[in-house]
Amino acid sequence: MKDEIVVVGAGGHAKVCIEILREMGETVAYCVGDANALDRCVGVPVLRGDENLMSLYAAGYRRVFVAIGSNRLRNSLATSAIDIGYKLTNAIHPKAILSPTVRCGEGVAVMAGAVINAESTIDSLAIINTGATIDHDCDIGRAVHIAPQCVLAGNVKVGAFSFLGIGSKVIPERTIAENINLGAGSVVIDDLLGSGTFVGVPARRLNK
Ligand SMILES: CC(C)(COP(=O)(O)OP(=O)(O)OC[C@H]1O[C@@H](n2cnc3c(N)ncnc32)[C@H](O)[C@@H]1OP(=O)(O)O)[C@@H](O)C(=O)NCCC(=O)NCCS
Repeated sequence: MKDEIVVVGAGGHAKVCIEILREMGETVAYCVGDANALDRCVGVPVLRGDENLMSLYAAGYRRVFVAIGSNRLRNSLATSAIDIGYKLTNAIHPKAILSPTVRCGEGVAVMAGAVINAESTIDSLAIINTGATIDHDCDIGRAVHIAPQCVLAGNVKVGAFSFLGIGSKVIPERTIAENINLGAGSVVIDDLLGSGTFVGVPARRLNK
């Protein structure tokens, strides 16, 4: 069996994740990209087409990191990889600060400068992006993306597949339901329920 990691994705998010994995002392053998992917991603050779996951498994690779920004696609590609037999690995930058009491799932990305405080839970396939802060007792759901420089106060819940745009903020003890898109720079002072897009200060539903 090979210890090197296969990264699914070959775009900008994959670049960041590959460099985190290298900072952790890991080696990324291949990226698996789509038909339009470039030949290399920060120096890693790119194989085009998801069917390559199967042939790499047959060649002895067992560890995968899914580096796709879209929450739904990240989840479905991770599920496919698990079905083949892969194990999801985490990419946690050594310069992120995680409390020892944080519970972390699989396939999680935590970028440089992020801070996650006591007894928070980060479910599988979540992204805690550059410089985001998650305070104590937060509950971040499956395949959530917390964008750069977001600030979540204590006891905040974010449901599966939700996306918090860059620089958004959430006051303590608020719940953001599943499948919510929160616009950049928004401030959440009420629970956001139902799915949909919310923007502004304070955050209100965007009715197009
Ligand atoms: C919220 C968001 C998803 C909406 O995108 P969209 O559905 O394409 O919406 P539009 O650009 O058509 O804007 C619709 C309206 O919402 C307003 N709006 C959009 N984003 C807003 C925001 N973040 N804050 C306040 N108002 C916003 C627009 O001004 C527009 O208002 P109008 O109808 O009065 O002109 C997007 O604007 C956004 O903020 N994305 C965050 C991206 C991000 O943080 N990426 C990080 C990657 S790591």
